[in-house]
Amino acid sequence: MSSSLSTMAYIGATILFILSLGGLSNPETARRGNLFGMVGMAIAVLATVLGPRVTAGGIPYIVAALVAGGAIGLFAAKKVQMTQMPELVALMHSLVGLAACLVGFASYVDTSTVFPTPAEKVIHEVEIYVGILIGAVTFSGSIVAFGKLSGKIGGKPLLLPARHWLNLAALLVVVWFGREFLAAHDIAAGMTPLLVMTVIALLFGIHMVMAIGGADMPVVVSMLNSYSGWAAAATGFMLSNDLLIVTGALVGSSGAILSYIMCRAMNRNFISVIAGGFGGGAPAPKAAGGEAAQPQGEVVPVSAVETAELLREARSVIIVPGYGMAVAQAQHTVYEITKLLRDKGVNVRFAIHPVAGRMPGHMNVLLAEAKVPYDIVMEMDEINEDFPEADVSMVIGANDIVNPAAQDDPGSPIAGMPVLEVWKARTSIVMKRSMASGYAGVDNPLFYKENNRMLFGDAKKMLDEVLGALKA
Ligand code: TAP
Repeated sequence: MSSSLSTMAYIGATILFILSLGGLSNPETARRGNLFGMVGMAIAVLATVLGPRVTAGGIPYIVAALVAGGAIGLFAAKKVQMTQMPELVALMHSLVGLAACLVGFASYVDTSTVFPTPAEKVIHEVEIYVGILIGAVTFSGSIVAFGKLSGKIGGKPLLLPARHWLNLAALLVVVWFGREFLAAHDIAAGMTPLLVMTVIALLFGIHMVMAIGGADMPVVVSMLNSYSGWAAAATGFMLSNDLLIVTGALVGSSGAILSYIMCRAMNRNFISVIAGGFGGGAPAPKAAGGEAAQPQGEVVPVSAVETAELLREARSVIIVPGYGMAVAQAQHTVYEITKLLRDKGVNVRFAIHPVAGRMPGHMNVLLAEAKVPYDIVMEMDEINEDFPEADVSMVIGANDIVNPAAQDDPGSPIAGMPVLEVWKARTSIVMKRSMASGYAGVDNPLFYKENNRMLFGDAKKMLDEVLGALKA
């Protein structure tokens, strides 16, 4: 393939990636967005492999790597459960970071490139240093995020004393070794500062994510997504590949925008989340008697038949899905119930919290899979004011996102996070298996409210029973 044809293919792929991101911003166009992304990536890979910079001798290696990578990807996509997606995404981010590091070291030891001027050599070395830096932070940070999301590492933040000073010291050391690296006369001399910086960057990535509490992990996942984009862009600079630079910048900036949106949705300060220490289970304020504040009131269990009765008598129902609906795979039964109620003239709508589940858009994906019409699926801001007019709010396997402590308890780890105000409906019903806490590990006073009922059991099983009772 000639270089002009490969440039045209790159431009085509770039346009498809932009269209893909545009499509992914709305559930209705997300499928098309995905398709654009896949076609764009296929064009990008073909144009690179058949492009002017790959020699015939290199093709077998590339094909072998494509087959091996494709097989692993296919296996993972088939095996991984929907609820394990965030862990998989974190692992994939780590691979982008690792790739940036490996490409950086390979570019450094590669002596085949001839630089026309010393300035160009310095620019190339800066690209290598920064690329490995971002790549190493992304790699180790994503591995820790994977550990936290999969429960292999505890959600509690690790807050080292003087952690901000430690981070600042690490930054200064990295800058100093950067100077040493650029001043080195040969590869052997440059390798030491490069390796020291890599180790510091790896430790920084671990420290950064370890210091973040469980409740703030959604922001960290999208932040690492952004980092992985910048790592890819850095790789593009090292390899002088324009498409990789553009694609990396698209992922980096869209990830940064998503992180910002999520911070706003959770009422978090972006810089504070990155600096660590949020969402870490600050001590609850003491009650009058000197004991930690405990939820007041009584828990009132309800049966599936009684739930069906409440739903049948309602004119307006708001359903709030959460992580438990994903675990139970109850979305299809939820839609069966929705259809039945709507046929009887009940106004049924869904309220989606921005961090419901374990990844951005988790609930939207499940509801779309169950064919729930998009026009009854509302974002938090669109529906939160409607709860006082609802007869029943039905919470299906959600916990943190409907926790009134976020508004009432300034000492709560989720204090300030906007929540769906389900308790304002005439009756709220919470469907879950036990009184256990949610992801953030905090008690939920909603369960003890006077107008709240608890339907204990697996969401799928209980909803099947509710559906049966509604049909009876
Ligand atoms: P959670 O607060 O985690 O609550 C889910 C509830 O579902 C649990 O309390 C659990 O209670 C229940 N559950 C689990 N399996 C169930 C089953 N088979 N049937 C019925 N109930 C079941 O979830 P949420 O309300 O969706 O909030 C999301 C949380 O995850 C937030 O804290 C958020 O910060 C965090 N998070 C979100 C993301 C993104 S981007 N969305 C990423 C990482 C973390 P039982 O055990 O009693 O059944």
